Amino acid sequence: MVSIKINDKRVTGKRSPMLYGHFIEHFHRQIYDGIYDPGNPLSDEDGFRTDIIDAMKKIKVPILRWPGGCFVSSYHWKDAVGKERKPLFDKAWRVEDPNTFGTDEYIKLCKKIGCEPYICTNAGTGTPEEMSDWVEYCNLENEGQYAKWRIENGFEKPHNVKYWSIGNENYGHWEIGAKSADEWGRLVRESAKMIKHVDATAELSAAALSDVDWNINLLKNCGQFLDWISIHQYWDMMPEVQNPATYEECMAWTKNIGRAVDDIRGMLTALHLEDRIKIAFDEWNLRSWHHPNVHTIKQGVNKEDYITPRDKNDDNSTYTMADAVFTACFLNSMNRNCDIVGMANFAPILNTRGCIYSYDKGIVLRSTYHVFDLYVNYLGDTVIDLWSESEIPTFKVNYKYGPETDVDMLDMLATKWSDKAGVALAVVNKHMDKEQEITLDIPYDNGEVVMYSVSGVSKDSYNDVERNEIGIEKKELGKFENGMNITLSPHSINVIQII
Ligand code: AHR
Repeated sequence: MVSIKINDKRVTGKRSPMLYGHFIEHFHRQIYDGIYDPGNPLSDEDGFRTDIIDAMKKIKVPILRWPGGCFVSSYHWKDAVGKERKPLFDKAWRVEDPNTFGTDEYIKLCKKIGCEPYICTNAGTGTPEEMSDWVEYCNLENEGQYAKWRIENGFEKPHNVKYWSIGNENYGHWEIGAKSADEWGRLVRESAKMIKHVDATAELSAAALSDVDWNINLLKNCGQFLDWISIHQYWDMMPEVQNPATYEECMAWTKNIGRAVDDIRGMLTALHLEDRIKIAFDEWNLRSWHHPNVHTIKQGVNKEDYITPRDKNDDNSTYTMADAVFTACFLNSMNRNCDIVGMANFAPILNTRGCIYSYDKGIVLRSTYHVFDLYVNYLGDTVIDLWSESEIPTFKVNYKYGPETDVDMLDMLATKWSDKAGVALAVVNKHMDKEQEITLDIPYDNGEVVMYSVSGVSKDSYNDVERNEIGIEKKELGKFENGMNITLSPHSINVIQII
């Protein structure tokens, strides 16, 4: 039995809705034959899949980062606006992009979803001028050739894009136009300067990683220009070989899921920037994307070597309760750090490793989708203190390529609402097959208790076309009594509301 205590007067912070953000890239079937599917009976007059948009609206997507990712580092936005679209040979993913989905289509999509746009610019082959021209196109009323071009393209009013990222993972050898730490600091500073000269209200992020030299250089050169520092992480790395980690191996990674946040928090604090710059964890997913023979020096020759294998990302049977439990642990960690983490973007939202899978006649809501539904629609917006005075049971698992380790059985978060009474706890039981009893030792004297759970039939459950094993189950547990016990199913994510 684990007792749970909360103190709703001890507030960590009001979490930004953007902790539940998403990412979509010009990769495989995310854009073309994904969200942008002109001619499909399920698409609207602009060619966007209405079933996918409805699913995105249900999880209140707050922000959508676009167009990449590696794709962006040799992308030129001017080829994809206006009447004459120039097809691009995308050197990142080695496919032709027709450029029929560009900035204006993206803005239309964000308006239909009701989310903020977040544009990642080309700091690979691009220049500070090309980046700031993009800001002119999107945000100036009518001054200069680019705002006038937007008007000519039928968009009288500015697109008002508030969030901009300078570059993607330009620190990585795999990225087109990769930079050294010194080069990066200078490029970001010059780009930030030009962007801010166009729109002083633009909020800027730039790529960082858990590397002191890279970040110190970036922050010393550009700290005064940046509002965000961008970090990315995937845990089950499968770019070359599609061999998903088992449920147990995925639980090992939940052990220090917030380590990258701790590292960056430490650097920001050491430079006295922690009050000015927030963390944007703007690409994260338990599973890395599978795209063999392109992030390598020796490139694939036949399309069977480097294009066809990308379909393996679409195998719905590989997105199980491991993905759901890991996702809940990650979101708990970001909420617990909501004083410094202001944004997190699931990579990606659609197809590949996304929480939504689409095919010509419909969609599949994968296990992770239901976790976002739980967190967005059933948890509070303010994070409060939660602790246990009883020992949290642990269990042993192995890392995918490493030693055995002990993992806490529970991962917990407490929230309340800023506009109504009550609390909502997110309690994750990570164990493969053991139930766990908890006691709510909470100084409340009234309220009804309702528990919403995502658990699946087994730890390896998954959803697929005409297969729905995972969803949200509701249990009414009656009047709240201090000291009441609740039993949590194995491999389950549970939001317990006391309202
Ligand atoms: O595997 C996809 C890639 O992951 C994204 O394009 C990039 O940003 C990250 O390395």
